[in-house]
Amino acid sequence: MPIVRFVREGRDVLCPVGTNLRELALAEGLELYGLKGRLGNCGGCGQCITCFVEVVAERSSSALTPRTPVEDQKLRRRPESWRLACQALVQESVAVLTRPQNGRDAQAAAIAAAQQEQLPEGRMPEPEPDPETAEEIEPAGVEENDEL
Ligand code: FES
Repeated sequence: MPIVRFVREGRDVLCPVGTNLRELALAEGLELYGLKGRLGNCGGCGQCITCFVEVVAERSSSALTPRTPVEDQKLRRRPESWRLACQALVQESVAVLTRPQNGRDAQAAAIAAAQQEQLPEGRMPEPEPDPETAEEIEPAGVEENDEL
């Protein structure tokens, strides 16, 4: 499973592939929003533009799902590395800075450290089914006592 490294908070959080980045941050009790977003946000619809994160390192260029059309429109005057957390799904391990609009310079050392430290592999191979516990699958329409 991928790890999301929240740089500002100094936390690595394991999550399943496909996890929404906003929901992950909120579930972990992390402060995703600046003042404006705390006062009111859209709840993850991509309309309030307050859930910024900056991708500071990623396992591959597809660690998060590609920018959505909403992000293309709403982030056109923001750095390429910024995302709306509510629009991004985690695919592989990634390091992000929450609230990059606030005090980014003070986070320079933490960002550099996060970039130096290798992110763990994101995708794990699917486990092989255990033949001892795997159920036998009956062909459709055939009952156990049916005579063939
Ligand atoms: S929560 Fe409103 S744009 Fe992401």
